[in-house]
Amino acid sequence: MYKFIYVVLSVFLLHLIYQTWSDCNVCQASNGAACINQTSYHLCFGSDQPYTNQTFTCTDGLVCTDQPVICFQRSETPSSCGDTDSCGQCAPNYVFACTSRTTFAFCFGATTPTNVTGSCLDNYFCDSSSQDICVNKTTDDSIICHLD
Ligand SMILES: *[C@@H]1O[C@H](CO)[C@@H](O)[C@H](O)[C@H]1NC(C)=O
Ligand SMILES: *[C@@H]1O[C@H](CO)[C@@H](O)[C@H](O)[C@H]1NC(C)=O
Ligand SMILES: *[C@@H]1O[C@H](CO)[C@@H](O)[C@H](O)[C@H]1NC(C)=O
Ligand SMILES: *[C@@H]1O[C@H](CO)[C@@H](O)[C@H](O)[C@H]1NC(C)=O
Repeated sequence: MYKFIYVVLSVFLLHLIYQTWSDCNVCQASNGAACINQTSYHLCFGSDQPYTNQTFTCTDGLVCTDQPVICFQRSETPSSCGDTDSCGQCAPNYVFACTSRTTFAFCFGATTPTNVTGSCLDNYFCDSSSQDICVNKTTDDSIICHLD
């Protein structure tokens, strides 16, 4: 019985994490929008498939999120879907590279990451712009690797 509850809970939590962290082109139940990149989205109009014939873009400084208002301040919520350009890049700090949202690899001054890797604590994510490596809040300068 407890095992069952544990499994159900894990699936639920995994789903929650997945929902919160990496949904490109997925209709979000929380706001009926499907983010297509960090700043643009399609609407779902109650369907579970996005209508791709109209593309909306958040106004300056806002990113597409799972918040009810869809576009939200980047400093408060990471976007639901983003680019992966920064993944595995040692720049700009050459200390470490984020290899996914929650994992990193040290660079030790080199341009390519080494195989010395680590993971962020629960509720923290890797931010290439931060010397803390893992943070629990984004800033305007945050560089997040949007991979799971
Ligand atoms: C997001 O996608 C839209 C539509 O394809 C495009 O116009 C926009 O430049 C993209 N934005 C980013 C940050 O990639
Ligand atoms: C978008 O596509 C849907 C179905 O594919 C259609 O019903 C709707 O009229 C289209 N909207 C626009 C603005 O073209
Ligand atoms: C990391 O890479 C070095 C050199 O390529 C290798 O000797 C070492 O065994 C690797 N360590 C791990 C933990 O994979
Ligand atoms: C982030 O962590 C700090 C402590 O390390 C805590 O005080 C703060 O409330 C956390 N913020 C969020 C958004 O979880």
